[in-house]
Amino acid sequence: MDKSSPILLFDSGVGGLTVYDALRKVLPDAPVIYAADLAGLPYGTKTEAQIAARVAGLLGRMAERYQPRLACIACNTASTIALGMVRDVLEIPVVGTVPAIKPAAALTQTGTIGLVGTEATIRQRYVDDLERDFASGKRLLRIAAPALVGAAEAKLRRRPVDPAVIADVRTRLEAMPGGETIDTLVLACTHFPLLAEELAAAFGPDVRQVDGAAGIARRIAHLLDGQSFAPQGTNRFVVTGPLAGAAGLEPALAARGFGPAEAF
Ligand code: DGL
Repeated sequence: MDKSSPILLFDSGVGGLTVYDALRKVLPDAPVIYAADLAGLPYGTKTEAQIAARVAGLLGRMAERYQPRLACIACNTASTIALGMVRDVLEIPVVGTVPAIKPAAALTQTGTIGLVGTEATIRQRYVDDLERDFASGKRLLRIAAPALVGAAEAKLRRRPVDPAVIADVRTRLEAMPGGETIDTLVLACTHFPLLAEELAAAFGPDVRQVDGAAGIARRIAHLLDGQSFAPQGTNRFVVTGPLAGAAGLEPALAARGFGPAEAF
């Protein structure tokens, strides 16, 4: 294994940085290439066929160019749809991101869990299977919150977050049968933990937020156990589409040890 071979983290946008932040805690020295498919953002409003073709095609080309030791699809939408297909295409370990229903089911006291994801994620059979396997006997209320993706992208560019889009998530969940008893919220999109403070303010201190980032980071560390890493230079942040799409992200990237955005 080439010691400079990076870990490739992939998302439609900046959401996967929540996985990156967790990964840094367990593997501080690993070189990372973060790829944001800004030309394809958002995934949540696309069809399964569009997402699968796009993600498998891009990851195939990125793996060829960057020769990563492991790829992580740091996106629930892409993972719940295309993880199997990407594993068929790549010859390296591929880690996916799936809604944290299992830990949420273990935490809830009231038995009512809210799951907030993209339109594409919440309709996936993968989510039905997780609910059946880990949350039977609980009430799982699912809603799509596409506006939160844009709000998270804005926040990382230091633009204001519209409080109405956050309040709307609470209003819609509480309007569902049993919604007023939600005590645990699954953030089933990697963008959403970037809005943890705003969501906490809207839902209040009694509603706990759960996401998969720490578990994914541990899984990556486990798969790479025993491997060594070349002393880390600057991590790379690459984007599809015009570089202007990354404008405003400079402080967030610099704070995480990334150089300026590069075009894929
Ligand atoms: N970050 C992605 C996820 O985890 C989705 C955002 C999008 O709609 O592209 O689902």
